[in-house]
Amino acid sequence: STAADAAALLIAWYDRHHRDLPWRISPAMAARGVRPDPYHIWLSEVMLQQTTVQAVKAYFEKFRGLWPTVGALATADTEEVMKAWAGLGYYARARNLKKCAEAVARDHQGVFPDTEDGLKALPGIGDYTAAAVAAIAFNRQSAVLDGNVERVISRLNAIETPLPGAKPQMRALVAAMTPKDRPGDFAQGMMDLGATICTPKRPACSLCPLNGQCLALNTADPETFPRKAAK
Ligand code: ADE
Repeated sequence: STAADAAALLIAWYDRHHRDLPWRISPAMAARGVRPDPYHIWLSEVMLQQTTVQAVKAYFEKFRGLWPTVGALATADTEEVMKAWAGLGYYARARNLKKCAEAVARDHQGVFPDTEDGLKALPGIGDYTAAAVAAIAFNRQSAVLDGNVERVISRLNAIETPLPGAKPQMRALVAAMTPKDRPGDFAQGMMDLGATICTPKRPACSLCPLNGQCLALNTADPETFPRKAAK
């Protein structure tokens, strides 16, 4: 049971059980060569940073309707953007969103850079967002690690080091597991697995495509991972 086997099982599960989300291209469409709009992926990832998928859906649709392109968002009235953001919280994110759109319009002719490093050079785009946009929008083999993925990886490998110290080890394990083929679907599959099966409490291990390779399930209690530092 190698990392490649686990990735293949995860992607096969994603093909069947992926969530339909308004910014997503289904795996069937992606197989026909349809790519998501990088603007949509970036916008959704920024919104998802501190907000649930369920709450983000309506906000995403609202923004896409009001500002259909990154260029439209760049020239939007800042007050209108802040008004549309109201309810999502963390208003610094909305300000950064506007700044990033302006930078893409001004410095990149309205076209998002297609590499992790190029994305990271934009205002408000950190390690997580750069990796997620590179993988999902541009099919780059970047390691995407959010809270859901940390939980999946920590259980799969029964990582005893507590968070946050375990992050570099987790990042290396995700990088080793991320396939060259379909890295974007792999990243989205890991997030969906963490959100729907490998949940913080009472994970549904009997339904998990990785239950044959999960060290936490087979040697310990999955619910006790990821370990947390004592307070
Ligand atoms: N949470 C953050 N980004 C996500 C994505 N692309 N799909 C599902 N859940 C997410």
